[in-house]
Amino acid sequence: MRTIIITGGAGFIGSHVVRLFVNKYPDYKIINLDKLTYAGNLANLKDIEHKPNYKFVKMDICDFRGVLKLMKDESVDGIIHLAAESHVDRSIKDPFTFAQTNVMGTLSLLQAAKAYWEALPEKYEGKRFYHISTDEVYGALQMTHPEGIEPPFTTKASSGTHHLAYGDKFFTEDLKYQPHSPYSAAKASSDHFVRAFHDTFGIPTIVTNCSNNYGPYQFPEKLIPLFINNIRHRKPLPVYGKGENVRDWLYVEDHARAIDLIFHKGTVAETYNIGGFNEWKNIDIIKVLINTVDRHLGRPEGADMDLITYVTDRAGHDLRYAIDSTKLQRELGWEPSLQFEEGIEKTVCWYLDNQYWLDNVTSGDYQKYYDNMYKNR
Ligand code: NAD
Ligand code: TYD
Repeated sequence: MRTIIITGGAGFIGSHVVRLFVNKYPDYKIINLDKLTYAGNLANLKDIEHKPNYKFVKMDICDFRGVLKLMKDESVDGIIHLAAESHVDRSIKDPFTFAQTNVMGTLSLLQAAKAYWEALPEKYEGKRFYHISTDEVYGALQMTHPEGIEPPFTTKASSGTHHLAYGDKFFTEDLKYQPHSPYSAAKASSDHFVRAFHDTFGIPTIVTNCSNNYGPYQFPEKLIPLFINNIRHRKPLPVYGKGENVRDWLYVEDHARAIDLIFHKGTVAETYNIGGFNEWKNIDIIKVLINTVDRHLGRPEGADMDLITYVTDRAGHDLRYAIDSTKLQRELGWEPSLQFEEGIEKTVCWYLDNQYWLDNVTSGDYQKYYDNMYKNR
């Protein structure tokens, strides 16, 4: 029996982690602690919300006293921390909210965990503070390539896997942090606080840095769900700059599986990078999305290519992200289960089959779900 708080469980990745833990561990008590910002949507968890081992608590992670009381009341012995402001474009417009939630919120959770756990007779024995972070803390990689070979080229990871890459450098765990956006700067700062709490107080922490996720329940402000929805409605697709930026994409359920494995088997104080060795230029993904949506809607394949609209580039737009997840593969045996083509097919089908979910989110109606579900009980 364990009692685990999962923060940000009503968001995109958090909802997949909550679902996995609630279904896989009936003996655990899973507490979803979420403030329900614009990005939190309890409809993401409709299928598990009545399970006896699941509880939702509406709370701000910055509420130190509230978190401490909850930890004491529920005898919490693990925290998996995903709650954050997560969208780079919003961080450019409003960096304060990002510093408040991502830095001060993480600090408040760390302080609450320290205060509660260190007063117990067994102290930190059997406890875990697992912080979910991003590859964006490492900054941007160049499109460097071996002499005479134009990217993308086939390369071999130290694990032996062959994959296509747009450069010969990758993010490894020992790389210096060089965040460029207010979002990644705030995440980097929170990572430093987590490590500082291990080194100073002995809290059993783990940090993971993952590449871009895609899949069901992602808020349609991010590239993939936004563009699927726009193609469906034949609305323009705003491609930043020339669409040449490269991201390394991982199916969200593979990330959730990695989190489960690392939470249970990872080594305290370690960092693990999580990624799929799956680099794509934005413009190439966008073309795949157009072809896939058109095919499913019975439109001639590629009919919507003219929706592509090049717009002013994002300020400080990182050129390339590429994760080397060899350490996780070697030490814990994790690897992604889905090929990207399969993952994109599943993802497009999910958004087209769940238009009600998408329409609810884009209309703002989803924010009434909590009021209906919880306030009138
Ligand atoms: P998301 O924006 O979809 O969800 C964030 C969740 O956190 C929402 O449910 C929101 O209500 C909640 N939240 C926000 N502020 C809060 C606060 N002050 N108190 C309590 N809850 C609050 O985010 P996501 O894409 O699911 O990302 C989850 C985590 O994973 C983040 O920490 C993010 O940095 C990290 N991450 C995301 C990606 C990605 O591709 N999405 C990749 C790597 C790492
Ligand atoms: P996004 O989904 O916002 O994730 P991140 O910024 O964390 O990588 O964006 C993915 C890529 O797509 C990124 O290079 C920015 C680009 N992009 C666009 O070109 N147009 C858009 O409307 C959005 C939201 C993103």
